[in-house]
Amino acid sequence: MNEFLSALPKAELHLHIEGTLEPELMFILAERNRIHLPYASPDLLKSAYDFHNLEQFLDLYYQGTSVLQTANDFYDLAMAYFARCDVEHILHYEVFFDPQAHIRRGISMDIIMDGLTGAQQDAWHHYGASSGLIMSILRDLPVDDALETLKLAKPWQHEIIGIGLDSAEKGNPPGKFRTAFEIADEYGWHRVAHAGEEGPAEYIWEALNELKIRRIDHGVRCVEDPKLVDYLVKHQVPLTVCPLSNVRLGVFPDIAQSNFKQLLDLGLCVTVNSDDPAYFGGYLTQNMLAIQDAFELTQPQWIQLTHNSIDASFAPAERKQALK
Ligand code: ADE
Ligand code: ZN
Repeated sequence: MNEFLSALPKAELHLHIEGTLEPELMFILAERNRIHLPYASPDLLKSAYDFHNLEQFLDLYYQGTSVLQTANDFYDLAMAYFARCDVEHILHYEVFFDPQAHIRRGISMDIIMDGLTGAQQDAWHHYGASSGLIMSILRDLPVDDALETLKLAKPWQHEIIGIGLDSAEKGNPPGKFRTAFEIADEYGWHRVAHAGEEGPAEYIWEALNELKIRRIDHGVRCVEDPKLVDYLVKHQVPLTVCPLSNVRLGVFPDIAQSNFKQLLDLGLCVTVNSDDPAYFGGYLTQNMLAIQDAFELTQPQWIQLTHNSIDASFAPAERKQALK
């Protein structure tokens, strides 16, 4: 089964590029940019990854971004993930980036976008992998900050495929960002949002109704509302589930006690993803293997799951066809 899962052509739809920053690369970039890290080695940094919920994780995650200074840094960050995807037969990826986490440190949108789009072009040429960038809004910052970020992104409107909503969920309901999502719609972008990760099922409804999202990031708490489950099944709204993330962030005690199998059995359109693999202990294939260990899915179920990811992607129809 391991070989079967490794060899399956895959797509990944829920991946924060800043969450792929491995401690080793963090040290290389810190040295390159003469930035002091409060750890003596990558191993000591890794052992400081002692978080138990989303807020604690996010503190470390934003701290880690301090080493990203130049377009070259963003290129190297993205290219490391894209090379990894090639090894794992991930042939299409839709990648979140958090511009506000960089702009507030004085890094321009142009630096971020030059680096990321350069890597995308090289991934296509070197690996034949297609990709898209989803600009994620930090929901714990004011709405005006989101609107300003959208203005800064306008010159890059055609290089970005979507808008997302991430960061601390509790106490930051999606509806607050309705205007931002309306502007993204005018830009021609797809709309997705993190909802029902730590926040309640109600936030999923709100993201669907007010932000008009077409795909839900996480969404695992939908099971708390049977009417919501009915709606999601009926409309086959995709959920980008991130099993190892859910365990590392304390959403579930372990994979076996997660509701992954329940989501499948309910007939929901589930996809498997890695979220922030450098922090959560595994890339996409590792997430699939962890699910396999806990639930022993069949090969046809895995083919269905990988097809769900391809179908739920924003790739053009002919690309979807080629990926299957
Ligand atoms: N930013 C990076 N990873 C995230 C997650 N799992 N949830 C919310 N915001 C994030
Ligand atoms: Zn996420």
